[in-house]
Amino acid sequence: MINIEEITRFCKEKGFVYQDSEIYGSAAGFWDFGPLGVELKNNIKNNWWKTFVHSREDVVGIDGSIITDRKIWEASGHTNSFVDAILECKKCKTKIRADHLIEDKLKRDITGMNLDELNFLINEHKIKCPRCGGDFEKAKEFNLMFKTNIGPVEGNISYLRPETAQLIFANFKLVQENARLKLPFGIAQIGKAFRNEISPRDFLFRCREFEQMEIEFFARNDKINDCPFINEIKNFKFNLVTENENELREVTVEDFIDLKLTSKWHTYWLIQAYKWFLDLGIKQENLRVRQHKKEELAHYATACFDIEYRFPFGWKEIHGSADRTQYDLTQHIKHSKKNLSIYDEELKTKVIPYVVAEPSQGLERAFLAFLFDAYTEDKKRDNIVLKLHPILAPVKVGVFPLLSNKPKIVEKSKEIFDMLKTEFHCFHDVSGSIGRRYARQDEVGTPYCITIDFDSLKNKDVTIRNRDDTKQRRVKIKDLKETLTKLLNQKIRFEKAGKSL
Ligand code: GAP
Repeated sequence: MINIEEITRFCKEKGFVYQDSEIYGSAAGFWDFGPLGVELKNNIKNNWWKTFVHSREDVVGIDGSIITDRKIWEASGHTNSFVDAILECKKCKTKIRADHLIEDKLKRDITGMNLDELNFLINEHKIKCPRCGGDFEKAKEFNLMFKTNIGPVEGNISYLRPETAQLIFANFKLVQENARLKLPFGIAQIGKAFRNEISPRDFLFRCREFEQMEIEFFARNDKINDCPFINEIKNFKFNLVTENENELREVTVEDFIDLKLTSKWHTYWLIQAYKWFLDLGIKQENLRVRQHKKEELAHYATACFDIEYRFPFGWKEIHGSADRTQYDLTQHIKHSKKNLSIYDEELKTKVIPYVVAEPSQGLERAFLAFLFDAYTEDKKRDNIVLKLHPILAPVKVGVFPLLSNKPKIVEKSKEIFDMLKTEFHCFHDVSGSIGRRYARQDEVGTPYCITIDFDSLKNKDVTIRNRDDTKQRRVKIKDLKETLTKLLNQKIRFEKAGKSL
C-alpha cells in the first residue's frame, strides 16, 4: 500500500484534491476538491443518500444551517465538553495536541486519559517540544468549536457546527410532524462540520472543515431491541475488536448479539454502515468494528462502536455509531423549554424518543478509504489502476477515436460522446497514443473505455475495454447505452457484453 504522502501527491496530480489556497501558502486542515474529486465526492454522497434515505420508508432527510444559535451548543454540551488537551511550549510557543504527542513518543494507546494523567506522563517520560526541545506548560483543555460573530453587534457569538447531528435534534419535532413519522424512524443529513483541530494531519483524515453524513435513528426507550430486520442479517460476518480483547476476530451478527454489548437496533445500523463499505468495493480484510472503551465514550453516549479502516498509518476510525440515549432531546427540552416529546399511539401518552443509533459517516474519511483500497500498482501495465467501484468512479466512460488524425473517425467518436454524455459522465479524449489514453483513464478509475475505428464506420459498432483486466468486446452502437447501463450497474458481466473481438 502506498503511504499518505504518495496518495496526497497522486490526488493533486490527477485533480482529486488540492491544499486549500495553496498559492498563498495554505492554512493546515483545509482542502479543495478538483474536477475528479468533486465527482467522487458527489458519487459517495449520492449513493449514501440513495441507500439510507431513498431506499427506506423509515428515514427522511433535512439540510440544516451551519451557523446556529449558540444555545444549541450549550444544550448539547459542546460548549463545555467538546475539548482536546493542548500543550504549549514555554520556549517557542508551539502548540501541540497532547494525546497525539504522547502516543507518538510512547507508542502506546492512552485513549481517555484526563489532564492530570497526561501531565503525569509528560513529566515522567520527560517529553519535550519536538520543535525546539523546550519544556511544556501544563496541558490545558482547548475547545474545538470555531467561533464567529453574528451581525454587527460585538459579542453576539455563535459557532460553526462541529457536528450535523444537533440540527436534527433541534428540528426534531417539526420534521416528525411534517413527515408524519411514527417511531421507530430516522432523520438524515449531509453537510459541512467544522472542528478547530489542534494538529490536523494525515491529509483528508483529520481536517478542520469536512462533511458528515449522519442519521439519528429514534425508537421508544422500551423498544431498543425490537428491530424487525435483525434476523435478515444474523449470519452476516464482520471483523470485531471488543473493549476487552485487543485481538481482531470474525463474528456473525448472531455472535455479536450474544455478547450483549449493545441493543439490536444499534447492531443493525452498525452493520448497515459496514455493508455499505463492502458493497462499494472495500476489501473485508481492511475493515473492522471496534468497541469504544468506557473512558473514551463521548459525553452523550452509553455505547459506541467505530468502523475502522486499515490505513498505512494504522487502523483508524472512518465511521462512528453511538447510542445517544434520550440525552440530546432531554437537553433541548430543558434548555429551550419546548416540549419535544411525541405522542405514542400504543402507550396513549407522550414519550421522549431514544436515539438507538447515530450512524455518523465522515465523507472525507470514506473518500480516503475508497481511494486507498482502489489504488493498485499494475506491474504488467506498468501503470496505476484505480479500481474504484463503477458507482464511485468519477468518469464512467472514456470515448476515443482510434486515430486522432482521421476526421471521419473523430467526428464519429464526438457523435458517440454526445449520445452518451447525457446518461453518464464521459470523457472524450483525442490526444496522444491510444495506449496513453487508456492509461490515463485507468489511473483515475474510469471503468470502461470505448474506441471508434474504421470498422465502426462500416459495421456501426465500437470496442469496449474493461479497466480491471483490459479485455475488449465489440458492441453495436445502437446497443451501447443499454450495455453500458447494465455494466455500470453490474447487471451483466463484461464477458456478456456484445461480441468477442
Ligand atoms: N455526531 C457524532 C459525531 O460527530 P464523531 O465520531 O466526532 O461523531 C463522526 O465524528 C465522523 O466524522 C467520524 O467517524 C469521522 O468519519 C468524521 N470526522 C470527525 N472528525 C473529523 C475530522 N477532523 N476530519 C475529517 N473527518 C472527521
